[in-house]
Amino acid sequence: MHPTSRPVKIVPSVLPADFANLGAACRELEAAGVDHIQWDVMDGHFVPNLTFGPDVIAACRSHVDVPFEAHLMVTDPELLAARYVEAGCARLIVHAEACVHLHRTLGAIRELGAAAAVAVNPATPASAVSHVLDLVDLVLVMTVNPGFGGQSYIATMEPKIAEIAAMIDESGYEIDLEVDGGIGVSTIAGAAKAGANVLVAGSALFADAAGPGHAVAELRGLAESAR
Ligand code: DX5
Repeated sequence: MHPTSRPVKIVPSVLPADFANLGAACRELEAAGVDHIQWDVMDGHFVPNLTFGPDVIAACRSHVDVPFEAHLMVTDPELLAARYVEAGCARLIVHAEACVHLHRTLGAIRELGAAAAVAVNPATPASAVSHVLDLVDLVLVMTVNPGFGGQSYIATMEPKIAEIAAMIDESGYEIDLEVDGGIGVSTIAGAAKAGANVLVAGSALFADAAGPGHAVAELRGLAESAR
């Protein structure tokens, strides 16, 4: 099925949240109607930033019912995978660029009982995921170079989004197509029209003066209208 035939999902990155009150931030996001919450896990090696260990995520797990996913921007993610599943993440997203044996890593994540997903950075071609579509339930196309929130959307990624959407459709597998980086009211339509059905927003969602509930509804409406 083509991802544009799959429901639109709005997923917040908690990167811009108040790190002194992450439990409250998760409760507010759940009340805002998000479909799941994304934790941007960074190791200071694969990307030049350092964020959430598994214990931080575990501390927030009991505050909400909404599913968690860990975007593992780390080298050798298979070494940490079990910790993030134990912390309460239902899905682990690993970078194709960070895995020496991507096929084996994705299979290992599924063996842990979690959903497996693969992410590709801006310079990585769509072909990097062509031989693992049978192992994932989501493909993430980065529209910024990972490491920080608040960056500008890289619109030249839209042909790659469309290419991967077509690959998913042709595969016959039920796979979501997620886009992360610079998603906001002026960019979400382009990503959705190109083929994304799962949109990650950090800065745009937290910066909305009318609150996250307004941001989620507005972004969802814009994505649905663009398809
Ligand atoms: C980059 C992060 C960000 C974050 C979203 O490493 O993955 O893309 O999730 O941040 P915004 O929406 O502010 O670009």
